[in-house]
Amino acid sequence: MDNLLQGLNIYLVGMMGVGKTTIGQLLANKLNYRFLDTDLIIENIAKKTIKEIFEQEGEENFRLLETQVLGEISNYIRSVISTGGGIVLDPKNWSFLHYGLVVWLNAPVDLLITRLAADNTRPLLKETDLSSKLTSLLEQRKALYEQADLHIEIKPNQTPEQIAQEIITKIPSKIRPEFKTNLN
Ligand code: S3P
Repeated sequence: MDNLLQGLNIYLVGMMGVGKTTIGQLLANKLNYRFLDTDLIIENIAKKTIKEIFEQEGEENFRLLETQVLGEISNYIRSVISTGGGIVLDPKNWSFLHYGLVVWLNAPVDLLITRLAADNTRPLLKETDLSSKLTSLLEQRKALYEQADLHIEIKPNQTPEQIAQEIITKIPSKIRPEFKTNLN
């Protein structure tokens, strides 16, 4: 796998609650890669939680930080990077994402609801009907997530370990020829 990837970064994209962080950590371990999470880096830089950034500075400023952080990270190699669910919204972010292999973790809204029902860290889900909010966010973003190189359909009884393994099994079929020229 090392020979095939040649240090190529792997970006995990997908909706809130789909398991990007847990799966990303497992994947990084398996590949002997560094693990990074854009939301955690933003919180470290801002010294505030994502919730506080949204409340005090607004979503727009959060999105600017997100793009800045992604731009910095894209200079790294040998990294699995879990991203915030909205990273796909700004076309500029795709210019960074496409330096690596982009993996979309897709799960049915029902599964996301069970995972997010008790969550109070996500500002976009505050004081709203969880089911209709997640449905409309997914509707708005689906065509963007679909631009990912690899689509992984998560089933309710699949463990994060199994999902990480599935990604590893499917990566070889998705290595685009231009990656090889970029990395040489
Ligand atoms: C967001 C997802 C969150 C975080 C922020 C906005 C989104 O990350 O970046 O609350 O727009 O979907 P997770 O996908 O890791 O929850």
